[in-house]
Amino acid sequence: MSTMNPAMTREGEMADENRAQEQVEAPAETIIEEGTTVGRPFSDDPKFKLRNVEVFYGQDRAIKNISLDIGRNEVIAFIGPSGCGKSTFLRCLNRMNDSIDICKVKGSLALDDQNIYDSKRDVVELRARVGMVFQKPNPFPKSIYDNVAYGPRIHGLANRKSELDDIVENSLRKAGLWNEVKDRLDATATGMSGGQQQRLCIARAIAVSPEVILMDEPCSALDPIATARVEELISEMSESYTIVIVTHSMQQAARVSNRTAYFHLGHLVEVNETNKVFTSPEHDLTESYITGRFG
Ligand SMILES: Nc1ncnc2c1ncn2[C@@H]1O[C@H](COP(=O)(O)OP(=O)(O)OP(=O)(O)O)[C@@H](O)[C@H]1O
Ligand SMILES: [Mg+2]
Repeated sequence: MSTMNPAMTREGEMADENRAQEQVEAPAETIIEEGTTVGRPFSDDPKFKLRNVEVFYGQDRAIKNISLDIGRNEVIAFIGPSGCGKSTFLRCLNRMNDSIDICKVKGSLALDDQNIYDSKRDVVELRARVGMVFQKPNPFPKSIYDNVAYGPRIHGLANRKSELDDIVENSLRKAGLWNEVKDRLDATATGMSGGQQQRLCIARAIAVSPEVILMDEPCSALDPIATARVEELISEMSESYTIVIVTHSMQQAARVSNRTAYFHLGHLVEVNETNKVFTSPEHDLTESYITGRFG
């Protein structure tokens, strides 16, 4: 069993680079028993309780009988080869898949023990509680101020201009952006650097006081300095929020998360403490992936 820890070492970074070059197929002889996940997929204090989740795009089953808890105030990283279902599964958590006509979600998905897919559930309220930050920063073509104020305005979170000003300032401070933008809040957000735009999107997500933040490869369009800044933010935010982050960077998963979940062809193969996943994975497929035998 490999003892490499890609998080902590230069060697780890080398292995990750090599992984991108090799890109061989997963070992065909490894059979995944459906619905079984090795490691520790459940939590003593779950924010999300997800049981026997299946997701279909038309006839194609993209998520195959996955059961997982996401703990309150934990940071969990989703890793796995391209197309294994990480984004699909993430989008189930705030019903972003609703907007894809052919997509059907089955199983039991609960947030604080309440059914996320209840037909009476207010999806706008759900998405205020479970915010999302995307791969590509997507600020609205509005001012920096109006981007952050957008959510609080539509949710009626401020009665007076001064209250809205406070929410905007606090959100920008939490997103580590206040000092850079406080003198140009009226400037157009699309004129900011990519890293600033992504922190603005984080501020926008925070502004409605969510309980959970979903992040789908939030740093993949950022340079290493902006990436480090967003990772710092994730660590700071983990004190108050539950965070789910999809990443292709094993170093990033190791730096920011408490637990890591390894997906493979729509299955959830292994979930465990991040350090354990990267130093002594239990499943052969996890080991092959983290040691760069396929990607
Ligand atoms: N809108 C869609 N319509 C049809 N099939 C889809 C759609 N989105 C995803 N899929 C399919 O579902 C499977 C899982 O895709 P998903 O995007 O969740 O993978 P992923 O792990 O996020 O991959 P990546 O690392 O490349 O982002 C793939 O086979 C993909 O082709
Ligand atoms: Mg994806």
